[in-house]
Amino acid sequence: MEYDFSFQNPTRIHFGKHALEYLEPELNRFGPRVLLVYGGGSVKQTGLYETTLKLLKRSRKKISELSGVPSNPTASKVYEGISLAKKFEPDLILAVGGGSVIDCAKAVAAGALTHQDFWETFFLRKEKPMDAIPIGVILTMAGTGSEMNGGSVITHEESKRKTSMESGLLYPIFSILNPELTYTVPKEQMISGICDIISHILEVYMSPSDEDNLSDDLAEAILGNVIRSARRALKDPKDYTARSNLMWGATLGLNGLLEGSKRQDWMVHQIEHQIGAYTNCPHGLGLSAISANYYRLVCPHAEGRFFRFATNVWNIDLKGKTQTEVARLGIDALEAFFREMGACTSLRELGMDETSPIDEIANSCKRLRGGYLNFTHEQICKLLWDSL
Ligand code: NZQ
Ligand code: ZN
Repeated sequence: MEYDFSFQNPTRIHFGKHALEYLEPELNRFGPRVLLVYGGGSVKQTGLYETTLKLLKRSRKKISELSGVPSNPTASKVYEGISLAKKFEPDLILAVGGGSVIDCAKAVAAGALTHQDFWETFFLRKEKPMDAIPIGVILTMAGTGSEMNGGSVITHEESKRKTSMESGLLYPIFSILNPELTYTVPKEQMISGICDIISHILEVYMSPSDEDNLSDDLAEAILGNVIRSARRALKDPKDYTARSNLMWGATLGLNGLLEGSKRQDWMVHQIEHQIGAYTNCPHGLGLSAISANYYRLVCPHAEGRFFRFATNVWNIDLKGKTQTEVARLGIDALEAFFREMGACTSLRELGMDETSPIDEIANSCKRLRGGYLNFTHEQICKLLWDSL
């Protein structure tokens, strides 16, 4: 393999219909104080809040709550959590929800143990935290992979910056993954999660090196399964097999497994995060709105890679076609799949139009250097205008 790499993932996963049975033994490993973090109310509607509270009480935990974490979690919610955690001094932060709840919990876990401003220090200056409160997770939606990685993505509302921090200290100690908990996810959020999984895999897959690399084979296998399982789960939201494949596929898509010896692009995410900072759109739908046009710009610089994607993932028929034509048909197939699911394939579907601050969004995007094409500012502008 061309590029050296280090890999460690410390998160313990409990997966399946009975995974919640592992919560009590996990809780017993920690001291008595638990900060329970959750979102806008879905956990109360589904009954998971009651169940969790019962298990926490049975384990004799003292509980404090940070509720109302919004989708695309905000810095102001993190500040609220930090001041709560500084007073309560939890032994464990238990995040019950999707990526937004987990990411907020992670930022609180790092921010509560420093006197410095969490946003300036960890998210803007990218300094690494020296310490963090341990995190446990009960996952309710498949998509981000935050349940098994050390990343946290937060939106600073005033400055309109959505960006991430990453630390080995922020991997959840344990994550409980029961696919049945995802049955109640609203369809739009489920589709958004599926687009997110696909995008995480593509950010790594669509990058050098192009040697024979196990990572690329794994990526194609997971992509194939996710596409198949998405179709099944959309037809029958209670298809356990499909839901469990999606949940595990999401986790494997961003837990470091695929990144071995790959450069990694991440520009689709970089640009989407800034679209999200301005529009507050569901993350995965922002990704699906720009992905096909992004890859159309990259394709001429890595035709062999896109040819491989078209044939191995989408089974494009080669007969009578040039390599260029096949490569382009693979990108068309990705876009058609997004449309088939009901995901957005244009920024207009996210509520943007010609009066939106498109150049301002383009200006606010950082340009990364891991993909096949080093995007210029003009190319980001073109991508956004083309995607309108
Ligand atoms: O807030 P509640 O009421 O819980 O409702 C949520 C929310 O409205 C609802 N939901 C979740 N599970 C449910 C459910 N409703 C009914 N039943 C359930 N079982 O779904 C909505 C979306 O939840 P959210 O957590 O916002 O979605 P997701 O998991 O897609 O997380 C998105 C956030 O994660 C970031 C994104 O940028 C975005 O801010 N990401 C985090 C990453 C990471 N930490 O590694 C990587 C990703 O690329 C991404 O950037
Ligand atoms: Zn993502």
